[in-house]
Amino acid sequence: MIVDKIKQLKVEKNAVILAHYYQDSAIQDIADYVGDSLALARWAAETDADVIVVCGVHFMAETAKILSPSKRVFLPDMNAGCSLADSCPPEAFAEFVKQHPDHTVISYINTSAAIKVLTDVVVTSSNVRQVVNSFPPKAKLIFAPDRNFGNYINSITGRRMVLWKGACHVHERFSLEKILELKKEHPDALLLAHPECKGVILVLADYIGSTSALLNYSIKSKNQVFIVATESGILHEMQEKNPNKTFIPAPPNDSTCACNECNFMKLNTLEKLYDCLKNETPEIFLDEKTIEAAAKPIHRMLELSTKLR
Ligand code: 13P
Ligand code: SF4
Repeated sequence: MIVDKIKQLKVEKNAVILAHYYQDSAIQDIADYVGDSLALARWAAETDADVIVVCGVHFMAETAKILSPSKRVFLPDMNAGCSLADSCPPEAFAEFVKQHPDHTVISYINTSAAIKVLTDVVVTSSNVRQVVNSFPPKAKLIFAPDRNFGNYINSITGRRMVLWKGACHVHERFSLEKILELKKEHPDALLLAHPECKGVILVLADYIGSTSALLNYSIKSKNQVFIVATESGILHEMQEKNPNKTFIPAPPNDSTCACNECNFMKLNTLEKLYDCLKNETPEIFLDEKTIEAAAKPIHRMLELSTKLR
């Protein structure tokens, strides 16, 4: 069976498999660690494995390489990109930063290494509020690349961060009408939303947070039914941790499908994971200068989020 073969290769190669919550259930089940972007970065920085396989998207594997440059880092499908990361091209962003002198640049981890090089401190959805609040109230800040997330953080912190106007195609396409219909059908359901969703969805939400925060909320809440507005892969772990609760994926507006999947995340499959471990490809390579420069804002985030925890 392919699962046994993957487990065997993992031992032979002293490899660790890190998976994001948005991966297919079969991949989450075989991974050594399953978590959000912040957890994946921490595990990548701390592992003593020789090989790291990141079952997620390209910027996650790149971050793992930046944090563990002596390790070999693989991504089962090199086409697993991210529309949010792609919405912030480095040349245009360098110009944007130049137009805002004296600003500190805060970038969400969903960016390429080239953007991290232009960044002062990286954040994830798990620590953004703490990191932003660690700056003086009048500090001049740029937040990139997600406009929805930036607007939300501005609204809860009272900041006026200058925002890069990027977005994630998955979180932007939730249907307000279909969510309202679901709320009518399930009047007791709580709406859980990721901050990459549009403002019209966030104002309706009962709880807003990163994937791990949404998961923890679903565990602690006494409520029995939840409508979940983030990539539907998270429902696997929610259901596993809460077997008696009901989780309904919030539907997108552009399809007949009831759940909203990230086509990039879903490019990774068990077969590709097996091939990748066996053939040791596709591998992430970055030049030393980029690793050194991109590591600084990520380490700053890890230090700050540990200190501020
Ligand atoms: P988190 O893992 O930080 O919740 O972010 C979700 C995401 O957009 C990953 O692509
Ligand atoms: Fe990128 Fe959105 Fe997919 Fe996350 S869900 S990897 S932000 S495209």
